[in-house]
Amino acid sequence: RVFLLRIFTLVALIGGLYALGEFRRRRPGEPPLDKGLVPWLGHVLEFRRNTLTFLERMKQKHGPVFTVQLAGFYFTFVQDPLSFGALVKASREKLDFNKFAAHLVRRVFNYEAIEADHNILQISSNKHLKGNGLEVMTQAMMSNLQNLMLYNVGLPADKKTWMEEALFAYCYNVVFRAGYLSLYGNEPFDSKSSEETAREKDRAESEALFYEFRKYDQLFPNLAYGVLPPGKKREADRLTDYFSNFLSVQKMKTRDNISRWIWDVQQAQEEAGMKESMINRHMFVLLWASQGNTGPSSFWLLLFLMKHPEALKAVKEEIDKVVKESGQEVQQGGPLLNLTREMLMKTPILDSAVEETLRLTVAPLLTRAVLQDMTIKMADGRQYFIRQGDRVAVFPYSAVHIDPEIHPDPHSFKYDRFLNPDRTKKTDFYKAGNKVKYYTMPWGAGVSMCPGRFFATNELKQFVFLMLVYFEFELKNPDENIPGIDFRRWGFGTMQPDRDVQFRYRLRH
Ligand code: HEM
Ligand SMILES: *[C@@H]1O[C@H](CO)[C@@H](O)[C@H](O)[C@H]1NC(C)=O
Ligand SMILES: *[C@@H]1O[C@H](CO)[C@@H](O)[C@H](O)[C@H]1NC(C)=O
Repeated sequence: RVFLLRIFTLVALIGGLYALGEFRRRRPGEPPLDKGLVPWLGHVLEFRRNTLTFLERMKQKHGPVFTVQLAGFYFTFVQDPLSFGALVKASREKLDFNKFAAHLVRRVFNYEAIEADHNILQISSNKHLKGNGLEVMTQAMMSNLQNLMLYNVGLPADKKTWMEEALFAYCYNVVFRAGYLSLYGNEPFDSKSSEETAREKDRAESEALFYEFRKYDQLFPNLAYGVLPPGKKREADRLTDYFSNFLSVQKMKTRDNISRWIWDVQQAQEEAGMKESMINRHMFVLLWASQGNTGPSSFWLLLFLMKHPEALKAVKEEIDKVVKESGQEVQQGGPLLNLTREMLMKTPILDSAVEETLRLTVAPLLTRAVLQDMTIKMADGRQYFIRQGDRVAVFPYSAVHIDPEIHPDPHSFKYDRFLNPDRTKKTDFYKAGNKVKYYTMPWGAGVSMCPGRFFATNELKQFVFLMLVYFEFELKNPDENIPGIDFRRWGFGTMQPDRDVQFRYRLRH
């Protein structure tokens, strides 16, 4: 009996190790395999601590394609920008995005995704977040930005008084709240006299929402990795409920100006038979996707402009010219600027500064589940076998954004990096003599590419445009260094700074 028990224990042990992936060996034709020392977990601790330095270390050791074990999954990283096309265009029968995304939103938002979600979002975004659909959104965003930026500064007595704020807190606050109001609508009013009360309510409610959102924002990286301690996890669950109630379908029905983007998604999910409580949770998923990155991006953009006077000057001149050409003039006590989409399409210098900011500060991790055994073909003709059940990933920040061959002097902010001498958009970038098609990827690529990217760019530009038109602003300490990056957020979109910086602003006119 004892003997049998021993055999049984041994079999269980081997079975366990097998399940933990301990016996996996690199097969001929597969990428280099690096399992790490810890069973099952593999390299996940180092990966989580600093994704960038980990991937750079692996690339040094194995070259641009390698397979690593991360918390029970084998991830093959393809870090050769010339070979991205093959991945981005791989058929959905082989590389699947939805499975991974559905897993993440279940863990992070308690939201059960349905098959149709991806299509619903694509259709609604194509209609309302790009092209002509953007005209309505631009109007809404402008009106909300002005409500938030100007309500406390209009007094003549204040004109030459500097107001001091922390830059990250200020930018994130204003852009988050204006974006939220533009997508989820305003408090209704029925007369001129109730208008000011309604505006005040919009300001107060969006402030409360932002306050809670920032708590969630702090918990997010560990929540996404599934390593929040129980107390914090309860806090995250409480917040999810708070947001679902705040943004509920019933509450939205009482608001004005709710965007067609939100409206259409709600309708389509209702028609697909989704329970209302689940649609409410999805409303929070969309708040997260739409408001988590734009605010931090606007911070980096303003900071880079303040640290680079020649860039600030060039953008300011461009903007002043556009305002003048629109026949408007911004004066004290005069009408507010009507900043239209047409005006926003005449700013190539600002466009380049935005793109450069995203290159330096946006670092998504693009992940696909491998549904069938497959081969990836590299640009240089090499091929690699990839196993079903594994994952394929790209981290464009290290593979392209800071590759010195593609972007010389990659850690410097050069506002005109994406500008040709004739002021058209520069799209020619090279590596080893080959043209690089994916020369930045802040929005991801292929099926999962950000459907809000046109609106997001528009928001950033509107915010900076209005800041420059209405205010003069400067760093409190002109010699302020650019803060470091909070490494915990690699892979989640726009990076956040590891500390805030003080700035001050006052009305220009
Ligand atoms: C600077 C701002 C933004 C950045 C850097 C950004 C970046 C991204 C990235 C990288 C993805 C793809 C994630 C992946 O492949 O796993 C994504 C997805 C998404 N983004 Fe954005 N985004 C921004 C702003 C916005 C805005 C303003 C909206 C909406 C108004 C939006 C809506 C979405 C949605 C709905 C998805 C999920 C798409 C899907 O599941 O197919 N994003 N975003
Ligand atoms: C709806 O948006 C427009 C601007 O797009 C604004 O003028 C109007 O006041 C908004 N309605 C409410 C109730 O805020
Ligand atoms: C701003 O200009 C656009 C286009 O010329 C116009 O449709 C819109 O009504 C104007 N908005 C305001 C608030 O004046």
